[in-house]
Amino acid sequence: MVKSKGISHFRAVFWITCVAVFVRTCYGDLSYSVSEEIKEGTVFGNIAKDLGLGVKALSDRKARIDMESDDKRFCDLRGGELVITERIDREELCGSKPSCMLNYEFVLENPLELHRIALQIEDINDNSPRFPKSEIKLEIRESADKGARFPLDEAHDSDVGRNGIQAYSLEKNDYFILSVHSNSDGGKYCELVLDTELDREQQEELSLLLTASDGGSPQRSGTTVIRVIVLDANDNLPVFSQPIYKVSLPENSPVGSVVLTVTATDADEGANGEVTYDFSRISDKAARLFSIDEVTGEIRVIGSIDYEEKYEYELRVQAKDGAGLASQAKVNIDITDVNDNAPVIHIKSLNVPIPENVAPGTEIGIINVQDKDTGGNKQIRCSVRQNVPFKLNPSIKNYYTLVTTAYLDRELVGDYNVTITATDEGSPPLSSSKTIHLSVSDVNDNAPVFEHQSYSTYVTENNKPGSSVCSVTARDPDWRQNGTVFYSLLPSEVNGVPVSSYVSINGDTGVIHAVRAFDYEQFRSFKVQVVARDNGSPPLSSNVTVSVFITDENDNSPQILYPTPEGNSFMTEMVPKAALSGSLVSKVIAVDADSGQNAWLSYQIVKSTDPGLFTIGLHSGEIRAQRDISESDSMKQNLVISVKDNGQPSLSTTCAVYLLISDNLAEVPELKDMSYEESNSKLTSYLIIALVSVSTFFLTFIILIVAIRICHRRKPRLLFDGAVAIPSAYLPPNYADVDGTGTLRSVYNYDAYMTTGSRTSDFKFVTSYNDNTLPSGTTLKRSPGDNSDCLNFTSLDFPENGSKYSTLQVKLGSMG
Ligand SMILES: *[C@@H]1O[C@H](CO)[C@@H](O)[C@H](O)[C@H]1NC(C)=O
Ligand SMILES: *[C@@H]1O[C@H](CO)[C@@H](O)[C@H](O)[C@H]1NC(C)=O
Ligand SMILES: *[C@@H]1O[C@H](CO)[C@@H](O)[C@H](O)[C@H]1NC(C)=O
Repeated sequence: MVKSKGISHFRAVFWITCVAVFVRTCYGDLSYSVSEEIKEGTVFGNIAKDLGLGVKALSDRKARIDMESDDKRFCDLRGGELVITERIDREELCGSKPSCMLNYEFVLENPLELHRIALQIEDINDNSPRFPKSEIKLEIRESADKGARFPLDEAHDSDVGRNGIQAYSLEKNDYFILSVHSNSDGGKYCELVLDTELDREQQEELSLLLTASDGGSPQRSGTTVIRVIVLDANDNLPVFSQPIYKVSLPENSPVGSVVLTVTATDADEGANGEVTYDFSRISDKAARLFSIDEVTGEIRVIGSIDYEEKYEYELRVQAKDGAGLASQAKVNIDITDVNDNAPVIHIKSLNVPIPENVAPGTEIGIINVQDKDTGGNKQIRCSVRQNVPFKLNPSIKNYYTLVTTAYLDRELVGDYNVTITATDEGSPPLSSSKTIHLSVSDVNDNAPVFEHQSYSTYVTENNKPGSSVCSVTARDPDWRQNGTVFYSLLPSEVNGVPVSSYVSINGDTGVIHAVRAFDYEQFRSFKVQVVARDNGSPPLSSNVTVSVFITDENDNSPQILYPTPEGNSFMTEMVPKAALSGSLVSKVIAVDADSGQNAWLSYQIVKSTDPGLFTIGLHSGEIRAQRDISESDSMKQNLVISVKDNGQPSLSTTCAVYLLISDNLAEVPELKDMSYEESNSKLTSYLIIALVSVSTFFLTFIILIVAIRICHRRKPRLLFDGAVAIPSAYLPPNYADVDGTGTLRSVYNYDAYMTTGSRTSDFKFVTSYNDNTLPSGTTLKRSPGDNSDCLNFTSLDFPENGSKYSTLQVKLGSMG
């Protein structure tokens, strides 16, 4: 049965089958079907034929089609045929309802006849599947497990039935597969299933094409893009750039200096990739020295680094990301040495005091030097730089021995301050020094030494026993008892008598005392050996000779040898009457047991019968006529002669000389007449004194003149030849030891000096006589009461000087 033109044969068959079914079920009601989107004007049924009515009847009976509603009609009745009048869109009319039916009523009048007509709209595949969005965005955490499902938006196809969505397909990829499910309403939806775990760090994003296809023919499909964004999971640890950091740091690096910077990277994103640094394991000591910057990873010095305290540090640093994942690395810091420690000197032992007799090279101490630094900074040179007899010998390791290099002498240098200097070989080198005090102890190596090689002393005879004669001193530079000196006399004999009976010595002071009085006339000198001994053990000693010279004292008066004083008979000299002025008439001879000045005699006439007639030689004792003798002169002439020595005080003796002026011995009167007439002697005495005074003054004046002359000529020497030749027969036997020249042992030289700068001051007699006869420097002064009439060399007045008395120094000595 063909119900519509232009329909294919196959369709025609299909529709016939359908209609047959509908007709049967509708019982008189008519049912037709037509495809959507069919062409306008298409005839899809012949109602006249189906109802068995003619066309004429239809128009007569006003046949028409009504719709239950007044919507679009889509079809109409033309003749007896049903024709499509409008485009029918099934999806518009019925949406997704599986069947779509339009219901009409076929109305006939006369009689009214009503038939229901049902028009089934058949679907055709005119719509493609469509996804709601052209892109599906999925954010999936990379930590998502395998098998995780992510539902996807469903695609829609307005067509129904087979023309609806039948399948989904996913572009081939590494991570996802598709799982398709059916809805309860028969629709299909799909899920994305994770087949391989994601790694953001490998691929952050991927796009997959999802295709939905229907079952129509021809098949239609629709696509959408699934954009998968892989979200980060904190699945990465921070990673240090090195597992172990090694760095070397010089000690004493300033605070704040950067040691090194550690870096760790985290592949994660955001907070998961933000790394902070910290020390994870650090000793308390290191914690005081190093700090780490949390953000930059810079390790800085915050304390003072001392190599000597610790030379390596091992720190652990930790890098942590925002989510708390952490990893660690090691930091090894090697501290390098800087020469910051001076050597330290330790005195390990010291044998002080050092005996002064130790041999050179003797070890006296052990010194140890230390330097806390290392390497060259620890190499030390140690020395003594002073000019002292000590040096340092390197010994084992850093030990040195201090040895002497020369002989020591405590008496020269008793102690040393030895400075030991130690210098290391760092750059710059550091050095330190230590001063040790070395004292030298005494050894009895010095004998006492006398201050003089020999001593001589002068003792005036008639000394008091016990008086000190002289003193000797010996010095011993040794220490304490080694330098304590004791004196003693070496036993010997003087004139067969032990010396100890003459002198004794004070053992402590060295003062020599006379034990008895000495007599110059008995012996004049002796020698004593004095020993000085120290108190060391064994003691050392030395000796010295002390010569004791006994000096003369004027303790003997002149002795007149001629004229012989003994006996009653006076010796009378004959004087020829014709004796002229100056002729020698007699000579007085006297001796003095003393010596020197004490034995230097001067003669003076103290009394005479005729004071103008005779004169006596001051030193010669020669009596000469002063004028020619005349007839008027008395025949008997008596002279009283005083012989005076020059001692201090001087001693004198007087004697009388009787002269007879006569040529004939027969004229000699009785000797008793020659006795002295006391009556006129007084006058005579005055005359004599006057004469002597005048002549003394005159002589003094002459001497003064001569002395001044000589002084002017700068040859200040006056030579007196005071020798008196005495026939040896006159000498008493006990004076025979006196030199052959007689009482005065030698020629006496008197030197007169005027002190420079003053012509008139001191007047000095200096002689070549043994200078030591008188204690040198003895000053003889005129005593105010000294009225001596004799010529006295010790008392000369110098009117020009205006002084009462002048100092006159007289030195007498023997030329022999
Ligand atoms: C050594 O030093 C001490 C103390 O400084 C000082 O008293 C002494 O005189 C010095 N000795 C020498 C020989 O320099
Ligand atoms: C004296 O010298 C001896 C060695 O001759 C020595 O043993 C002693 O200590 C010294 N005495 C003093 C006080 O120095
Ligand atoms: C006195 O000293 C000398 C050297 O100065 C020496 O030869 C002599 O033996 C010493 N005499 C005595 C008795 O000690």
